[in-house]
Amino acid sequence: MTSGPDASDSSLVVAVVNAKGGSGKTTLALHVGVGLARRGPTLLVDADPQRSLTFWTAMAPPRAALPPVAEASRDVVTVLRAARADYRYVVVDCPPTPIRGTVRAIVEVADRVVVPILASPVDLWTSAETFWSLRRLATGDRARRFVGVLNQVEPRSALSASVRRAALALDVPLTAVALGRRVVYRQAAAEGRSVYAMGKRAMAAIEEIEALIQEVV
Ligand SMILES: Nc1ncnc2c1ncn2[C@@H]1O[C@H](COP(=O)(O)OP(=O)(O)OP(=O)(O)O)[C@@H](O)[C@H]1O
Ligand SMILES: [Mg+2]
Repeated sequence: MTSGPDASDSSLVVAVVNAKGGSGKTTLALHVGVGLARRGPTLLVDADPQRSLTFWTAMAPPRAALPPVAEASRDVVTVLRAARADYRYVVVDCPPTPIRGTVRAIVEVADRVVVPILASPVDLWTSAETFWSLRRLATGDRARRFVGVLNQVEPRSALSASVRRAALALDVPLTAVALGRRVVYRQAAAEGRSVYAMGKRAMAAIEEIEALIQEVV
């Protein structure tokens, strides 16, 4: 794993944020968390009152090897401070709400903020607002910690190229890796697993999650 500006810190908090609902926050948080757990002690933090991440892991079969989940609400900053002491990695799934209140507090504590964006121009425009709010909170070095990830990219679609051009025009940074629209992500949620536990049919998904972790962390 490449060492980032936080290499000297003992812990890394990754927040998954987008005010736009259904963009892939919980899917991404769960999978980045599972991938990071292979590298060091990892805690998932469910900061969304919908509790999707908690439900997901509660369905886990024995030996699903999912990281533990802590539920958090307004106490999230306290939860994150405590987690930093005990875990190398902490991944926070945020609610689909604007960067205010709890989400703002999470963003201020986080070392990395990842914004999943559905690969369509309309979703990019909606997500751009989240980006502008994030940028208002931090300039210079900290601004570089915010990055968008295209999600549910269709194979052989020209859409993702046009979304990338639009992102450039809006000054929204995107990771080079994008997540494809893959049925294994939905199956993973239905089975309380991660794609890491789904064998050969999930190879492409595992590879893109690993590439994302390399790029972001
Ligand atoms: N790459 C993908 N391929 C296929 N399905 C996906 C992918 N990413 C997410 N999904 C599906 O899209 C739906 C929304 O994803 P998810 O729940 O992760 O979004 P969210 O941003 O957490 O939503 P909310 O804003 O409600 O919390 C889910 O049914 C999920 O299984
Ligand atoms: Mg969610």
